[in-house]
Amino acid sequence: MTRVFSGVKPTGHLTLGNYLGAVRRWAEVDQHRTDALFCVVDLHALTVDHDPARVRRLSRQAATLLLASGLDPELCTVFVQSHVDEHARLSYLLECVATDGEMRRMIQYKEKAARERERGGSVRLSLLTYPVLMAADILAYGTDEVPVGDDQTQHVELTRDLAVRFNQRYGQTFVVPRATPPKVGARVMNLQDPTSKMGKTDDVGPGIVYLLDEPDVVRKKVMRAVTDSGRDVVYDREERPGLANLLEILAACEGGNPEDLSGVYESYGALKKDTAEAVVELLRPVQERHKELCADPAYVEGVLRMGAAKAREMARPRVDQAYRAIGLLAG
Ligand code: TYM
Repeated sequence: MTRVFSGVKPTGHLTLGNYLGAVRRWAEVDQHRTDALFCVVDLHALTVDHDPARVRRLSRQAATLLLASGLDPELCTVFVQSHVDEHARLSYLLECVATDGEMRRMIQYKEKAARERERGGSVRLSLLTYPVLMAADILAYGTDEVPVGDDQTQHVELTRDLAVRFNQRYGQTFVVPRATPPKVGARVMNLQDPTSKMGKTDDVGPGIVYLLDEPDVVRKKVMRAVTDSGRDVVYDREERPGLANLLEILAACEGGNPEDLSGVYESYGALKKDTAEAVVELLRPVQERHKELCADPAYVEGVLRMGAAKAREMARPRVDQAYRAIGLLAG
């Protein structure tokens, strides 16, 4: 059976981008047709300036939101990265296969390191090695497919390179995975700055729709989205990024294509109104279920404990095999 692995990082509240680019598909498609693991990657949240209590809170919230989004522990494995030691164990081995140059070429590293420096901070070494830990997450499980948004595909490419290199040097150990971004919604842009991705921790807060935003907050954010001074509502990602983003969000909510919505609307206002309502309706069941789950934290904890136990069992044999293959003495 196809093995799927993916994760979310608890560095901020989950956004509409996380949902449309990744989480919704995990729940609607991946968990039903594959043997899938979904992970709250808390170790990755330590790669930039962080507050310990906040990371703990956001990890719990992210796990709760994954379940609220429809991940079913009967169908897939949901767990927290730091509960399974194999990720960190394998990451070290992969650091011995990856190169410094490869790490420095990663777009996300360059962007995040520049941001840290701009703020007068220093860059944590773990930010540089971030993609290696991500590769370990994926390779530990013999993953075939990694359902992620566009921004993560470079990391998955690197993971492929590391898997191939390790296999060539030390013998067949890892499955070479591939990224499977969604056709629509793979890159949801910030509503106030449609040339940059809608990220959890961006400065342009009013341009980010969070999964737990109240309906009226969602409406306000969508209605105030930056567009342009044109009149016709056509889909053109290059020339009219704000409008294209709204058309993509609406299409993703409805399960259609943005191209098919080109020319359908007579005004920006009408498009915004429909998009706002579509997002509100999309989020409504997630928010309702989230409220129920918050009232039952013991259930969420139980799911995570069981998930970690299952994940450990799945990861250990391959990671042990990698230890032997690379030249470490069996203990
Ligand atoms: P993270 O937490 O930034 O995002 C989680 C998932 O959401 C997708 N995503 C988006 N998709 C479309 N539009 C957006 N604006 C948008 N923003 C985020 C991301 O592509 C991702 O699929 N490094 C990863 C976490 C990770 C991981 C892994 C993922 C760690 N180990 C192993 C897959 C496999 C990250 O920071 O995701």
